[in-house]
Amino acid sequence: MARYVNYGSLIAWSFVLSFFLGLLVLMPVLLVLYASPSGPSFSINLSYNQALNMTRENDSATKFTIDFDLKLKNENEAIGLHYPDPINVTFSYFPNVSFLVVLAEYKLDRFYQGNGKTRHVRDVVEANVFPTALEGTDMIAFRVDLVGTFRYKKAGTKRHKVELGCVVGVDYTTSKNMQTGFIGLVEPGLDSKLKKKPPPDYVGP
Ligand SMILES: *[C@@H]1O[C@H](CO)[C@@H](O)[C@H](O)[C@H]1NC(C)=O
Ligand SMILES: *[C@@H]1O[C@H](CO)[C@@H](O)[C@H](O)[C@H]1NC(C)=O
Ligand SMILES: *[C@@H]1O[C@H](CO)[C@@H](O)[C@H](O)[C@H]1NC(C)=O
Ligand SMILES: *[C@@H]1O[C@H](CO)[C@@H](O)[C@H](O)[C@H]1NC(C)=O
Ligand SMILES: *[C@@H]1O[C@H](CO)[C@@H](O)[C@H](O)[C@H]1NC(C)=O
Repeated sequence: MARYVNYGSLIAWSFVLSFFLGLLVLMPVLLVLYASPSGPSFSINLSYNQALNMTRENDSATKFTIDFDLKLKNENEAIGLHYPDPINVTFSYFPNVSFLVVLAEYKLDRFYQGNGKTRHVRDVVEANVFPTALEGTDMIAFRVDLVGTFRYKKAGTKRHKVELGCVVGVDYTTSKNMQTGFIGLVEPGLDSKLKKKPPPDYVGP
């Protein structure tokens, strides 16, 4: 009996087989990505359009402005994120290690963020007071606090709250940021507002 090989169906079968094998390998990966998603990450790049010095500080006609670029990233490749409440960002500074003075507040409207997407919010806030150097130093210690909520785009998931923050040191005489570029917002966030805690240790340039 002559051997008869139907190449057509062989190819068809190998396609089917590799499809299922591929699925078998991919499924667990997809499941893990979908079942244990991670929260979003936030970072900020601050800059000022004026020198920070004593002369300015007493100039009541001038407002102190902070330009910022807030980066919000959905770290999940497999799932979208809703930010169901306005995200509140507070800009403040430490006059001394036991006190925090609020300079400005910023509100970001609720929005939806697709899988793995990054959003940049570039804006400016104005303050009526000029920040002063942290007592006993020649740097201004800014603090940025963010309070927000997010929810995975998946049925039956609840809201998660995030309270994050960071400290940005600025040299008082040169007005240069001591850390440049994007600074990650980390936990613990609001605890420094307890007015008893010193700002996190500053690591010199
Ligand atoms: C402080 O600010 C004033 C007003 O802008 C400016 O004239 C002066 O040169 C600044 N001083 C320093 C040390 O940067
Ligand atoms: C600020 O300026 C006003 C008027 O120029 C002056 O009377 C006052 O003493 C100044 N304050 C400080 C803290 O330098
Ligand atoms: C810290 O600064 C605030 C505001 O200027 C002041 O009321 C407070 O007494 C200061 N605390 C200390 C321990 O210096
Ligand atoms: C931000 O503040 C507004 C009120 O100004 C409030 O309605 C909202 O819930 C706050 N957002 C969060 C995440 O707490
Ligand atoms: C941060 O902001 C400053 C001032 O706007 C800009 O020059 C710098 O390139 C920014 N850094 C990044 C990493 O975007």
